[in-house]
Amino acid sequence: MRKLILLLPLILFINCKQKPATPTGQVAEKAMVVSAREEASQLAVDIMKKGGNAFDAMVATELSLVVAYPFAGSVGGGGFMVYRKNNGEVGGIDYREKAPLAAHKDMYLDSLGNVIPGLSTSGGTAVGVPGTVAGVLEVHKKFGKLPLKDIIEPIIALANKGVVVTEKQANRLERTRERFIEANGDSTKFAGPFVTGDTIKYLAYANTLQKIMEEGRDGFYKGEVAQKLAAYVQENGGLITTEDLEKYEAVWRDPIVFDYKDLKIISMSPPSSGGVTINQMFKMMEPYNMSKFGHNSTKTIQLFTEASRRAYADRNFYLGDPDFVDIPYDMLLDDNYLQERMASFSFDKATLSSDVSHGEVEIIESAQTTHYSIVDSEGNAISATSTLNGGYGSKLYCAELGFFLNNEMDDFSSKPGVPNMFGLIGAEANSIEPEKRMLSSMTPTIVEKDGKLYMVVGTPGGSTIITAVAQTILNVHEFNLSMQEAVNAPRFHHQWLPDMVIFEPEGFSEELKAELKSKGYIINEERTPIIGKVDAIRVLPNGKLEGGADKRGDDTAVGY
Ligand code: DON
Repeated sequence: MRKLILLLPLILFINCKQKPATPTGQVAEKAMVVSAREEASQLAVDIMKKGGNAFDAMVATELSLVVAYPFAGSVGGGGFMVYRKNNGEVGGIDYREKAPLAAHKDMYLDSLGNVIPGLSTSGGTAVGVPGTVAGVLEVHKKFGKLPLKDIIEPIIALANKGVVVTEKQANRLERTRERFIEANGDSTKFAGPFVTGDTIKYLAYANTLQKIMEEGRDGFYKGEVAQKLAAYVQENGGLITTEDLEKYEAVWRDPIVFDYKDLKIISMSPPSSGGVTINQMFKMMEPYNMSKFGHNSTKTIQLFTEASRRAYADRNFYLGDPDFVDIPYDMLLDDNYLQERMASFSFDKATLSSDVSHGEVEIIESAQTTHYSIVDSEGNAISATSTLNGGYGSKLYCAELGFFLNNEMDDFSSKPGVPNMFGLIGAEANSIEPEKRMLSSMTPTIVEKDGKLYMVVGTPGGSTIITAVAQTILNVHEFNLSMQEAVNAPRFHHQWLPDMVIFEPEGFSEELKAELKSKGYIINEERTPIIGKVDAIRVLPNGKLEGGADKRGDDTAVGY
């Protein structure tokens, strides 16, 4: 009896740890889609109810976000998807944009070798060759169940009927209004003004979808649509030709797969840096008992920050398009190497980024991307993140085709050592070359526990994507939060350079910040941005699904 009493705290502790958090988000019996807008989540769930699988639902979500969430809906852009089939098979597809054939290393530099501001972020020069249509059609060809027509027809109907402007959307449209007019003239449909409750129809996009439905990828990458697209980019000073479009191919890539304690984490491989960087971070943190430190406690923030600092330093130097550069995976993902990287870490004092490397940069602009997570009734899972890069991309709206064009070229390193709009400094590995893919931070991720599907996670947020995905997984696994709580929890970020921790506006006390400062952490007090917009799904012990739809946006989980 005495022994039992002595053991009680331990038993309770183990039990607490083992009992998964009660769900607080939307719960569904069989299948679920969590995306940036209810319209897209609902449309994709309807496709699954009609017999479609998660891959059909991916096509539906991606193509309907163009109207439901034009801020980031990416037919004029690109993305990455990681999947896990119900038999445990995993894979990934890269439909990232490419540099046009006529692109070259110094295309954004003046005669003195200085970066010309704006060239890689606005107008035609910023546009990479879009990959989304190739990506989703390739996914559909390989894994889809329903005919393309059954998936695309409801999206055409949605585009013709229009989508109602939410309050958050009205604010975004208003904020970008001047820039729409600058890029497209004052007769552009986005000259607005728009108010909450207005309906925006996308008739030109409906026609583009009709072409894709009838002709498949040729309906976009060849013929009339391709000619209009290339002509439009060129009229705006860009380099994309019909040859660039015709040559574009999405690429199947093996994801990065690694263990963290009793989890198996599956995430995107280069040209996204997400998988490699998150793998490094988790392995650096693994030896510590983080759950004991407490959620968002000083020690947890220190450990996470020091792992991020070291992983981002490697990211910026070594990573790029694997079709163009050799990435030293063996070294970067080696356990001994990662433990050695952490040898200089102590809870007493911050490591300075200048001791890991050097340079001073500033994060200039925040922008938008979008993530969606899907699980179907057969247990197949999809994690996909796609983007135009900045909010509404280059701001160029191709009125004839009905969608915005990306400004993804800014994700290349225009000049070694000069930061891009996320403050990321690149190196030679991410320099511009014809047909090369620019390095990304997008981190669509799937987590397994005990050999079974456990979580589907991802987010927008530029350079903050990787840390937001990592914190969401830790929130569930180390701190036993429900999926919705894990998504809602306040986030922080560090990316090596600039050497500062940024915190979201709410949820971090002055005492905590003061303690970190006393240990030498540099805290950016002026900048407290919203970090990411995570859309995730957790599989509950009884097999039901809990959605985590980020409260920071209009994101919605729909299931059945
Ligand atoms: O691929 C990347 O890493 C960036 N183009 C993502 C941009 C992004 O997430 C903007 N959203 N906030």
